[in-house]
Formats: sequence, structure tokens, C-alpha cells
Amino acid sequence: MLPGILQQTHQWVAERLPPGGIAVDATLGNGHDIRFLADHVGDAGRVFGFDIQEEAVRRSRLRLEKESLDGRVTLFHDSHEKIKFHLYNRSILHIDAVMFNLGYLPHGDKTITTQTDTTLDAMRQAVDMLNPGGILTAVLYTGHPGGREEAEQVLAWMKQLDTDYQTVQYQVLNREHAPILTAVCKG
Ligand SMILES: C[S@@+](CC[C@H](N)C(=O)[O-])C[C@H]1O[C@@H](n2cnc3c(N)ncnc32)[C@H](O)[C@@H]1O
Repeated sequence: MLPGILQQTHQWVAERLPPGGIAVDATLGNGHDIRFLADHVGDAGRVFGFDIQEEAVRRSRLRLEKESLDGRVTLFHDSHEKIKFHLYNRSILHIDAVMFNLGYLPHGDKTITTQTDTTLDAMRQAVDMLNPGGILTAVLYTGHPGGREEAEQVLAWMKQLDTDYQTVQYQVLNREHAPILTAVCKG
């Protein structure tokens, strides 16, 4: 039995994010990924989360508070291309893991989606901040307006990264618009 999409990216991250590590959720949404990251890094870890929608920040905060994980997390109601700005301001220059789950907020406004230019800007910054052994994961969707173009551009960018990085792609083949899972591993 294949793991679900979320579980698969969580498995990849779990292999490379150490306890006490530093992680980023670049697209908070409903807070599933940041809950996983906060739980995984433990008491000594730090996690940062971004979303442009107040509602996503609110839902994520509630999820974290419910499990008393909010103490190790900082949430930004801001766009992910401000990642360096916000983390450098807190003297965080390197990270161990960063997760992107693109598209729109499920059970929210489907017209508010990630955009190719800002997504790529944020991913470039995030990869630049990765520690050796670190990982970026991205779930790409092709079923909404602009989604296919964004997915193609992200894949094209990943393909041209130099061989200090290993990039992988994983997708269920016999389902239309199945999400595309990708990862960039440093070293
Ligand atoms: C598919 S959801 C993320 C799912 C989420 N990681 C989870 O675990 O539930 C995509 C999210 O990206 C957010 N988003 C769109 N553009 C963004 C941007 N420029 N910066 C940060 N978040 C953005 C949307 O508001 C939406 O909440």
C-alpha cells in the first residue's frame, strides 16, 4: 500500500530533519505540515511558517495550540518570498527542512493560489539556506488555473540545479491531475 501524499513528504523530511533542527513551512494552509514539523523537531527545535491568508495562519495556530506545539513555532502572516528577510532578522541563516504545498487553501478561497514568480523566488532562497543534508519538498498541483504552468516552471528549475543537489519527482501515474511530489536534497 502506498502512503498518502502528505505522509510521503513527511517521510522524506523525517529522514533528514534532526531533532532540535530548524524547519520552515512555506505554505501553512490548514496546518497539517507545520504540526508534523513542530512535533518532529521536538522541544529544542524551531519551526517557522508562512501564509498570505490570515485564515490559514489562524487554522494553523489553533491546530498547534491544541497539541501544545505552538511554543516552538513562529507564524508569519506574510508571503514566503520574505523567508530570508524574516529568518535573517532572527539570526537564522540556515535551515534543515522546508516544505511547500502549492495551490489554494482547501475549504477556503480557491482563487487565492501560489504564483509561479513568488514560488520560485521563495524556493531559491530556501535552497540557498539549506544545511548540508537538508531537504526542500514541494507538492505541485496541475488541476487549478495557473497550476500546470507553475508546476512546469518548478520542475524546470529543479532540473537545472547543480549536482550538489539531488532532485526527485514522484507521482501516481493512473490518476488525472495527481499531485506531483518533488524534493531537493542537499548533499
Ligand atoms: C495547499 S495549501 C497548503 C497546505 C498546508 N501545507 C497544510 O498542511 O495544510 C496552500 C497555501 O498556500 C498559501 N499561499 C499562497 N500564496 C502564498 C505565498 N505567496 N506565501 C505563502 N503562502 C501562500 C495559500 O494561502 C494556501 O493556504
